[in-house]
Amino acid sequence: MNVFIAGGTSGIGYSLAKHYLSKGYCVGICGRNLAKIEENNFKNLQAFQADVSDMNSISSVLESFLLDKQGLDIFINCAGSYAEDVAGNISYEEAEEMLQTNISGTVNCFEASRKAMKNQKNGSITVVASVSGILEYENSSLYTKTKRSVIQIAEAYRRALKPFGISVTTIAPGYVDTEKLRQLNQNNLGKKPFLTNLETATHIISEAIENKEKLIIFPTKMKWMMRSLSLLPSSLLNMIMFRKAKWMKND
Ligand SMILES: NC(=O)c1ccc[n+]([C@@H]2O[C@H](COP(=O)([O-])OP(=O)(O)OC[C@H]3O[C@@H](n4cnc5c(N)ncnc54)[C@H](OP(=O)(O)O)[C@@H]3O)[C@@H](O)[C@H]2O)c1
Repeated sequence: MNVFIAGGTSGIGYSLAKHYLSKGYCVGICGRNLAKIEENNFKNLQAFQADVSDMNSISSVLESFLLDKQGLDIFINCAGSYAEDVAGNISYEEAEEMLQTNISGTVNCFEASRKAMKNQKNGSITVVASVSGILEYENSSLYTKTKRSVIQIAEAYRRALKPFGISVTTIAPGYVDTEKLRQLNQNNLGKKPFLTNLETATHIISEAIENKEKLIIFPTKMKWMMRSLSLLPSSLLNMIMFRKAKWMKND
C-alpha cells in the first residue's frame, strides 16, 4: 500500500506516518521544514520538502513519490496552520498563513491527490479539519472559520469524487496532545478539555480511514458536547463561546 501524508513532518501527520510504516506500507511525507522530522531513517519512508499552498509544489512531490509505484492508496492532508486566536489577536502574517495553508492548501491537496487516483477507480483521501469547525457561531476565530471551510470543501469533493470510486474522510479532532499545541500554550494544556493523546488520535484516525467514514469527530465527549451546543439558540451559543474564550485567556 502507498500512503502520502501532507503535513507529515511532525505531530498527528508524523504519528500516522509511523503507524503506516509499522504495517509495512510505503509512506511519503511532506512539509516545509524537513529538519524537524524526529527520525528519518525508516526503510519505507520518503520525505519531501513542499508547501501545500503552492499547487506545483505539492503536485510535483506527489509525482516524485509515485514514480516507482503502482498508484496511490491513501492520501492524508494533515497540513494545518493554527495560532491561539481564540484567546487573542493574531498578526497579518499569521492570518495569511492560516488562510493559505488551511484553505488553498486543502484545495491543492484534493486536486493533486484526485489527479493521482483518477484512473485507479479507488483510493481514499482524508483531511484533518477540527472539531472547532463543526459549530456555526458568530464570534468564532479565524482558525475556526478556516476549519469550517475545510469541512465544507471536503463535502464538495466527497460528492464529486464518488463516481470515480474515491472516498473522502473528514477528521474533526478535539484537542490532541502534540508539540505544536504545547508550544502555543507554554506547555500547559490544563485548560484544554477532553485532551486526547497522540497514540489514541492516530488509532481513531487510521480506523476511520480504513472504514471509509465520512466524518469522524473525537473524542466522544467532545462530539456530544458539540451536538448539545448545536441545539442552542445562536445568541446563547455565542455568549457561551465568548465566555469560554475569555476563560482561556485569563490564566
Ligand atoms: N493538535 C490539536 O489539538 C489539533 C486539534 C484539531 C485539529 N488539529 C489539526 O491537525 C493538524 C495537525 O496538527 P498538529 O497539532 O499535529 O500540528 P503540527 O505538528 O504543527 O502539524 C502540522 C503539519 O503541517 C505542516 N505544515 C504546516 N503548514 C504547511 C504548509 N503550508 N505546507 C506544507 N506543510 C505544512 C507542518 O510541517 P512544516 O512546519 O514542516 O511545514 C506539520 O508537519 C492541523 O491541521 C491542525 O489544525 C490539531
